[in-house]
Amino acid sequence: MKRKWWHDKVAYQIYPKSFLDTNGDGIGDLRGIISKLDYLKELGVDIIWLSPIYKSPFVDQGYDIADYYQIGEEFGTMEEFDELLAEAKKRGMYILMDLVVNHCSDQHEWFRQALKDPEGEYAQYFHFVKGKNGEAPSNYRSYFGGSAWEKVPGTDKYYLHMFAKEQPDFKWENPRLRKEIYQMINWWLDKGLAGFRVDAIINIKKDLDFPSFPADGPDGLASCVKMVEEVQGVGDYLEDMKRETFQKYDAFTVAEVFNMKEDELAEFIGEDGHFSTMFDFSAHELAQGESGWHNSRPVEFREWRDTIFASQKKLQEVGFPANIIENHDEPRGASRFLPEYAQNEAGKKMLGTTSFFLYGIPFIYQGQEIGMTNCRRSDISEYDDISTIDQYHEALRAGCTQEEALACCYANSRDNARTPMQWEAGENAGFTKGTPWLSVNPNYTKINVADQEERADSVLEFYKKLTALKKCPEYKETFTYGTFAPVYEASDSVFAYYRISEEGQKILVAGNYGTEACTLKLEGACRKVLLSNLGREAALQEEAETEGKITLGSCESAVLLLESVD
Ligand code: NOJ
Repeated sequence: MKRKWWHDKVAYQIYPKSFLDTNGDGIGDLRGIISKLDYLKELGVDIIWLSPIYKSPFVDQGYDIADYYQIGEEFGTMEEFDELLAEAKKRGMYILMDLVVNHCSDQHEWFRQALKDPEGEYAQYFHFVKGKNGEAPSNYRSYFGGSAWEKVPGTDKYYLHMFAKEQPDFKWENPRLRKEIYQMINWWLDKGLAGFRVDAIINIKKDLDFPSFPADGPDGLASCVKMVEEVQGVGDYLEDMKRETFQKYDAFTVAEVFNMKEDELAEFIGEDGHFSTMFDFSAHELAQGESGWHNSRPVEFREWRDTIFASQKKLQEVGFPANIIENHDEPRGASRFLPEYAQNEAGKKMLGTTSFFLYGIPFIYQGQEIGMTNCRRSDISEYDDISTIDQYHEALRAGCTQEEALACCYANSRDNARTPMQWEAGENAGFTKGTPWLSVNPNYTKINVADQEERADSVLEFYKKLTALKKCPEYKETFTYGTFAPVYEASDSVFAYYRISEEGQKILVAGNYGTEACTLKLEGACRKVLLSNLGREAALQEEAETEGKITLGSCESAVLLLESVD
């Protein structure tokens, strides 16, 4: 594999709206981010991905962009953004923006022009399609519920929106549109961005016949994803975009890709693929219900572990994945992947350990490093997220009680990860002096950065150890390029794997997710216990040396350097 500058880095996702507010408007801002660069540096972060900070009406929290060349005034100014770039650079850190080019906002100038003149040039930037028999062109359901088609006022046409109706989809078939997008991307890269996280990109290719599909829900509609799954040729656009933009800058791109065709993996992230990497969502998709959160299913430990293992094995053959526990679209990992008895600091450190050393580049989502959790709400009005509100009503329509529908939101809502960052035990968790745009998780008095910075055994201090170990010159090669190989798979509670370098350095990463202690007989002598989530390095070392095994209690994890192999 060709070595790339970003392979050995640690990345961190900031959700700017909820990170740190410095002007009291209840919304996080660039000044807040700048003021926390040292915090991130100390955590061991190299690459920072900012969720959208462009001008936006925030129907979908900034994923509806009204101007790609402007910073949203809630976040600050372009001068402050330039300052952020410069300050990051000073610290040897890299900034990624979010690239949202499947759609824009209905407030974007291009869409306004398109509505003004539905036969004109800008209408060609969007999918303006004639209805059929007085109805929408097809029966697609948008990702946020309801038809994916909206009437173009005063015409017999509809425009396509795979997300909210305020997020019209671009027509990538139009070369003028593509040119505008490439110009915009290069404009940001010229500023000194290191690259982009690329949003919802699989959706850019449409079947211009827009065929209907058999209904898959009581609304008589079919998910628009069906069209995405059937249509061929997205790669042509992705390759073109790469050539015209990212490639020229050696930029880092991490794509959000769902519903990719299996055989296209190498084209996406193989050597010289369309993107540097893409997120591995295999574990996150497991619980997905047939028709929504109300019928999502429980996932057992073994299935979760084996899914990650299978995905790792497949991905390492092809490219270099990006690994996450959570992000702004997912519930908190500590609430989701840890059984209730493990939802404590030991469990969170164990989850961090077993995820962090997987093959690929780790992305930490803001607050994960202190073990932030899902947030219980007592009424749907306390949620902000467009998809949560849709799913809540979907659950009610499917016959759930209000209480059950709220329980679905507690388990699945994107707002779980969007609550303000918990900096301290003071008012509003130190996030704002005003009223936060989304109320803080009441557990901030117990889970916060200030407290954890004071405690050597905190989750935060442990995450610093994780990043330090990953970058330690003696092991970096193995953690970056070493082969991933699962071990102790017969166990129902152990999540364990080796990373083995080409030179034969062998590192064991293991966590016991069960309630009972378990014994792992070591395959090879232990050279050194590199990390224990309970500070039991010495005890584990002794046991390994004298007995050739380690015993991990419930919620205990360890990283061991074993004797090298040929
Ligand atoms: C994926 C983003 O992560 C999500 O937050 C957004 O709602 C959709 N794409 C639409 O842009």
